Amino acid sequence: MPQVYWHAGTIAPEQRCQRLGQQAATIWLTGLSGAGKSTLACALEQRLFSAGRTAFVLDGDNLRHHLNSDLGFTAHDRRENIRRSAEVARLMNDAGLIVICAFISPLRSDRDMAREIIGAANFIETYVSTPCVVCEERDPKGLYRQARAGMIAEFTGISAPYEIPLEPALVLDTEQLTVEQACAHLLQHLAPRFL
Ligand code: ADX
Repeated sequence: MPQVYWHAGTIAPEQRCQRLGQQAATIWLTGLSGAGKSTLACALEQRLFSAGRTAFVLDGDNLRHHLNSDLGFTAHDRRENIRRSAEVARLMNDAGLIVICAFISPLRSDRDMAREIIGAANFIETYVSTPCVVCEERDPKGLYRQARAGMIAEFTGISAPYEIPLEPALVLDTEQLTVEQACAHLLQHLAPRFL
């Protein structure tokens, strides 16, 4: 980038992690709207917090209120949403934090971009695989109903694609699992690293 120079700091990410007594990583929850990503993210954050870890949730809906409030739901805007959010997650990982991301992130190429930004070693892709019919039945925000009525364009699962992860680290179906059970699976998977 012309006329912009990187100024290196003197504290390594490892030192920050050491200070916090943990390893930094990003747990990336992907899945349909209504699949349970935000609920799971907050439950996991609470569990990690209670265990003395420093964790932080980045939620698609919430980030779209502020940092990403200029973005919509075209493929282009979703990609930018994921790019910015992954960059924030990377910074937070550099600061030593455990980051839990909850984004539909419907396209493999966008999730691959997030993996690249964050670094494959720190990127734990988790597919919240709750089927579309179940998400539509739940319809916690009434968005599926609006999408079916043609009031929302490009709604994921209805009029926009969702590409299933090919090799996720973990798959959690919240139709089959309670929040507690799904959280326990996640913690079990993460335990060697975080607990
Ligand atoms: S992503 O596709 O760019 O990753 P993100 O996770 O940030 O999406 O935001 C998804 C949330 O936006 C949904 O949970 C829903 O509340 C809301 N939303 C509004 N319009 C749409 C749409 N067309 N498709 C999917 N979600 C939408």
